[in-house]
Amino acid sequence: MKIPFIDLKAQYELHKEEINKEVIGVFESTQFILGPQVSKLEESLAKFTGSNHAIVCSSGTDSLLLALMALDIKAGDEVITTPFTFIATAEVIALSGATTVFVDIDEKTYNIDPSLLEEKITSKTKAIIPVSLYGQTSDMDEINLVAKKHNIAVIEDGCQSFGATYKGQKSCNLSTIGCTSFFPSKPLGCYGDGGAVFTNDDKLAKKIRTLSNHGQEERYKHKYIGINGRLDAVQAAVLNVKMKYFADEVQKREEIGARYNELLKVSGVIPPHVKEDRTSVFAQYSIRCKNREDLSSKLNQAGIPTAVHYPISLHQQEAFADLGYKTGDFPISEKVSSEIMSLPMSPFLTLEQQDFIVKTIKEFA
Ligand SMILES: Cc1ncc(COP(=O)(O)O)c(C=O)c1O
Repeated sequence: MKIPFIDLKAQYELHKEEINKEVIGVFESTQFILGPQVSKLEESLAKFTGSNHAIVCSSGTDSLLLALMALDIKAGDEVITTPFTFIATAEVIALSGATTVFVDIDEKTYNIDPSLLEEKITSKTKAIIPVSLYGQTSDMDEINLVAKKHNIAVIEDGCQSFGATYKGQKSCNLSTIGCTSFFPSKPLGCYGDGGAVFTNDDKLAKKIRTLSNHGQEERYKHKYIGINGRLDAVQAAVLNVKMKYFADEVQKREEIGARYNELLKVSGVIPPHVKEDRTSVFAQYSIRCKNREDLSSKLNQAGIPTAVHYPISLHQQEAFADLGYKTGDFPISEKVSSEIMSLPMSPFLTLEQQDFIVKTIKEFA
């Protein structure tokens, strides 16, 4: 049995006719930048999340950069985030000129530990970026409370969690600004790069939209230094089709994640822990195992692909050496980085495939 890590092919085959029709429609209209497909997508994303504004953009990375730019975050400011994330979260802080301040994670959810935030806040702190890792949001109430007390913004890096809920509310609509990615392998993925920014603040929304289009409010009148951060109409057309089926896919992801958790009660394996007041979209289904390398080679030999998200904590990356952190500074993040491993996951993973993966893990255990 050869199991795909994420079955994008099965999804395309299912909606091929509709996707092809919409994409060809864009080609024929020659409206490649902005236009009706982009506006339609923004409306449906805002409706889905319950957010007043959705501004689509060129990638998840740019969605985070636009959020920082809209909040005027610059050199001399500090932004708090987790060291256990994809580099983009902290990369944009460095690009804005601000200093990244890492806070360790909670050992159960792998998300930022809100009890450690207060001690890292200084007069320079301008924002906190909690990451909704693997598709599960952080403890947003606790984080928002600390932020409110110190009058700082909260930017949710929801690049992996679009479609997840926290206390009944949708991810990306839980704080000052929410950001997401439509990278092909994300729960809602397009056929290239894409992302979106969400906010309920009218002024911020207007600024984010302007910044994403070269700071231009009217043609060739530039209010800010912005970026070319627009989403292509072709990508919007793909996403408009996928949005129709997204709620069903989220449900399937939840069911497959829950079934994995039920079946993987195996000694030596720690399945993901989803807190009771929230749901995960399982952008990644990641387990922990002390002998990760042996387990992954056993799985790979059986035709089961695996991946590690992420093998090195950001404070240990060469790119962040100038921050002056050292090994041992964030022990939970370091421990989880050395044990974590992602298994195949998609709404199209069959029961038979899942049983085979679990059987192979059990044989190893
Ligand atoms: C947590 C996190 N933040 C940011 C990003 C960046 O998104 P993109 O690849 O769309 O730029 C990703 C996606 O790879 C991510 O997983």
